[in-house]
Amino acid sequence: MHELWSANSAGASPERLREVMAEFAAGVTVVTTVWQGMPHAMTATAFSSVSLTPPLVLVCVGKSSRFHHAVTQAGTWAVSILSADQVQIARHFSHSGRDLATQFDGVPHTPAPHCGAPVLDGAQGWLECVTYDKHDAGDHTIVVGRVLATSVESADSAPLTYHRGTYSRLPDIR
Ligand SMILES: Cc1cc2nc3c(=O)[nH]c(=O)nc-3n(C[C@H](O)[C@H](O)[C@H](O)COP(=O)(O)O)c2cc1C
Repeated sequence: MHELWSANSAGASPERLREVMAEFAAGVTVVTTVWQGMPHAMTATAFSSVSLTPPLVLVCVGKSSRFHHAVTQAGTWAVSILSADQVQIARHFSHSGRDLATQFDGVPHTPAPHCGAPVLDGAQGWLECVTYDKHDAGDHTIVVGRVLATSVESADSAPLTYHRGTYSRLPDIR
């Protein structure tokens, strides 16, 4: 069943946008930073590669998240690309009620080499970034990062994906 919803002058409603974006299967990341000596983190799927020269990536950060203030102030951050075994970590860092002071307790991590933002042990890989630009975008800020360092940790294991509100393990098509 195909339903066609065209935009009026105000554009698509939040519900319609959410509905169609749920069809977009995304990898899952945890973005981290250190602000005023404290580590901060947020689960994010709105992450993308932007440019190879210079090396740029972006993450869209909700203005109402506690992470927004930390990452926009800190200016350096890291992105851990989660493996399918890290679904509990994805849930943990998307839970808005978690205690910020203890949120890394029991989450194995290592400081990124330049900025010290936590990178998660067991992730598929990670990138470390310095903020290159910030763009105001409705209820989010697009934070563009220049990539300082990268690591592929686990090329053999499956990445975590998110589709229609459900986490899953990527099946191979061979
Ligand atoms: C699968 C998934 C993906 C998410 N992706 C994003 C994202 O890309 N950007 C964002 O701002 N919030 C995203 N969120 C919501 C944040 O993870 C959530 O708001 C988090 O609680 C923010 O934490 P804070 O308010 O403690 O900073 C996502 C949540 C889930 C479950």
